[in-house]
Amino acid sequence: MRILPEISRTFGEYLLLPNLTEDGCTPDHVDLSAPVVRHRVGEASPLRIAVPMVSAIMGAVSSPRLAIALAQCGGLAFIHQNQPIAEQAEMVAAVKRHKAGFRHSDINIKPSATLGEVGDLLAAAERDVAVVTDDGSPGGTFLGLISTSDFNVHRHDLGDSVESRMRPAAGLATAPTGISLSDANTLIWDARQDVLPIVDEDGRLASIVLRRDYELHKQFRKESIDQDKRFAVGAGVNTHDYRERVPALVAAGADVLCLDSSDGYSTWQSNVLQFVRERYGDAVRIGAGNVVDGRGFRYLAEAGADFVKVGIGGGSICITRDQKGIGRGQASALADVVRERDAYARETGQYVPLCSDGGVLHDSHMAIALAFGADFLMLGRYFARYEESPSPLVRVDGQLYKEYWGEGSQRARNAARYGQGKTLVFEEGVDGYVPFAGSLYDNVSVTLAKITSTMISCGSTTLRQFHETATAVEVSHQSYLQNSEDVRLRDRANAIV
Ligand code: IMP
Repeated sequence: MRILPEISRTFGEYLLLPNLTEDGCTPDHVDLSAPVVRHRVGEASPLRIAVPMVSAIMGAVSSPRLAIALAQCGGLAFIHQNQPIAEQAEMVAAVKRHKAGFRHSDINIKPSATLGEVGDLLAAAERDVAVVTDDGSPGGTFLGLISTSDFNVHRHDLGDSVESRMRPAAGLATAPTGISLSDANTLIWDARQDVLPIVDEDGRLASIVLRRDYELHKQFRKESIDQDKRFAVGAGVNTHDYRERVPALVAAGADVLCLDSSDGYSTWQSNVLQFVRERYGDAVRIGAGNVVDGRGFRYLAEAGADFVKVGIGGGSICITRDQKGIGRGQASALADVVRERDAYARETGQYVPLCSDGGVLHDSHMAIALAFGADFLMLGRYFARYEESPSPLVRVDGQLYKEYWGEGSQRARNAARYGQGKTLVFEEGVDGYVPFAGSLYDNVSVTLAKITSTMISCGSTTLRQFHETATAVEVSHQSYLQNSEDVRLRDRANAIV
């Protein structure tokens, strides 16, 4: 047996030293964009993201709703693979369908439905307006709109029909198919409507344009979109049914795939990479992992991985280290793999981006991971806490939480990820709750402000510069205790986090 001389360390054991911050190094000059897939050194990656965050390939994290929100903010979601191929492909297709401009109408109701029914529909979807069509389908004849301000549980009989309270089509602005997005947005403002129905010449609903999308588009200038202006989205695949899953995801429009496994240093992963290369050449991009040392990186890079994911055992819901004794502190794993990535780039002229996966407990850990050389970060717990994640919102002891469970938990039973055969014999993850943290949009912007601020302190305006010039130092336990040791904290309800 070989025993490595150094200790396995996590992000929390390091701090960064400031470098000289020069005049131009201000937040508006900081570029957080990152390469996602392999490219020649000195050239641009064919897939970049404006914000170096991707969502974990997990059922509690990556749904179409979260994928859309994250793409709007400049990141990328990976739709989870622990579900039938057709369902995963449909989730990918739903993200691609959801244009920021003209969108498929997903909240529709018949005029004969009751106010109670439309109220339930809106509450479940957390939306304010439903579109009324003759048959309640997204392609039915457009009849009107009904919103939460059109009826009230105290003033109206919830058994009354939608028709009795809807705003009928005759009094609403609509637009014909073929209208430009910019004209549609002008109409929305002129008509003071939140929703502009787009109808074909037969009066059937074709799509809708939302005032909120316009506002979000103006707010989020960095959205991740493909060449057709559809949101970018990734998808997980496994080493079992890839011959069927990969083609279905490609057909659904996935922009990039990623092998989803707790341990990616295997010939199984190499076989999948070979399959993708033989079938699609470079037209389909696929990441692999997870690995925790240079050997694993080199193996997957040589097998053709477009990016490599780093991390075993560091996830917040992970118990792999206890169960199997496998893993490595995320900071040590990353430092080792970064060395190998850079050596590989020097030798081959190919830059294979690294994704640091899991183990981020504080926003500062993201900055440290990026300083250590990660190109982008995969986050589970971080995104699970937001209202856009698919997991249920629950109240525990009076506090709001989102449920969050590991893919190796009994709840997920993701046997394909854990190489335990057809069923999960023992658990590698827990099933729990994380504090509800509100909207992804608000939180991501605060996190990015923190990462930007760290980079400025380190005198960097790009992630590349940050990788090259950051200096990390190990911290003693005592130096952490020093903060606030003798200060009693006030109520943090109004604190800026
Ligand atoms: P987090 O961001 O610390 O919550 O970690 C998320 C990462 O944990 C995921 O991207 C996976 O790599 C990993 N993961 C997900 N489910 C499990 C599990 O059940 N056991 C171990 N690791 C898991």
